[in-house]
Amino acid sequence: MVSRETPSDGLPVRVRTAGDLAGHVPVAGSFDEMTPLARAAEHSVLAREGARLRPALPRPPATRVLVVANQKGGVGKTTTTVNIAAAMAQVGQRVLVIDLDPQGNASTALNIYHRRGVLSTYEVLVEDAGLADVATEAPDLPGLFVVPATIDLAGAEIELVSVVARESRLDKAIRAEPCVGGAEAGEDRYDFVLIDCPPSLGLLTLNAFVAGAEMLIPIQAEYYALEGLGQLLETVEMVRQHLNPRLRVSTILVTMYDARTRLAAGVAEEVREHFGDQVLRTSIPRSVRVSEAPSYGQTVMTYDPGSPGALSYLEAAREIVVKGAPT
Ligand SMILES: Nc1ncnc2c1ncn2[C@@H]1O[C@H](COP(=O)(O)OP(=O)(O)OP(=O)(O)O)[C@@H](O)[C@H]1O
Ligand SMILES: [Mg+2]
Repeated sequence: MVSRETPSDGLPVRVRTAGDLAGHVPVAGSFDEMTPLARAAEHSVLAREGARLRPALPRPPATRVLVVANQKGGVGKTTTTVNIAAAMAQVGQRVLVIDLDPQGNASTALNIYHRRGVLSTYEVLVEDAGLADVATEAPDLPGLFVVPATIDLAGAEIELVSVVARESRLDKAIRAEPCVGGAEAGEDRYDFVLIDCPPSLGLLTLNAFVAGAEMLIPIQAEYYALEGLGQLLETVEMVRQHLNPRLRVSTILVTMYDARTRLAAGVAEEVREHFGDQVLRTSIPRSVRVSEAPSYGQTVMTYDPGSPGALSYLEAAREIVVKGAPT
């Protein structure tokens, strides 16, 4: 249906409706002239179109469990988890995000209700709830499921201390999930499980290290980027020796890269010297669109699918999918 408005100069202006928007992807540049409703409709169309237009990639032979960690705060762990997960879903992968941070930022960005009382990671870790009972599909992102975190998870760090096999609770839950595994898990199998860790090396993060086979470390392109990484890598080594020999630091992603500064280029170069092939070729640019998406309960992949941040996350996700699991 086409609706019309008559502005003060008397000339009719055509206002685009959701129906119009569903028919085609509008021309860039016209966005600011639209009504909020039309804009919202356009977003949703772009989100769906974005997904539809992105060619699917082959699914891995078995579920890959990636731990997104860096004990440093604010380096882009959550932003990376939700956007890589969304991008993977948009290229035909089935993805489970486990929010392991009591802040629940990944749950917020993926628009999953996570007030106290909702079944969450806490119930999985402390009360033996199954992942299938707790996971919900993210709106706008078919194929992406989320185990949300509530503030209760803050208590788990202490409550788990007295629990048997306290560091392998998450591993146990993932292993018990029927949609995790190889071909036997069927069409509904998760191709990727992404775990968003809190900024610490406590019991929650340890649970992720024991559950995962691959580690994705986001590194912010800033002066102190590599500081503290030694401690993280030592912890990984300790986990490999005593708890989980499968764990590999498979992927490093440079985030919040500001191409205008020499500092960012220098940091990226240093990271590459240090980690070589583990570093993804794609870096994520610093972008306002990336940082404002969560306040709309969205990832940048749906909020602004054509923006440089979204395209970079898409490319980074492709690299991870195409590269395959480390051997
Ligand atoms: N590419 C980017 N461009 C601009 N801002 C970004 C980008 N990536 C992340 N941010 C912003 O930086 C801040 C920290 O990001 P994020 O929450 O992902 O980090 P984190 O490592 O998960 O933090 P925490 O340690 O608290 O869990 C957020 O405000 C986020 O919106
Ligand atoms: Mg976070």
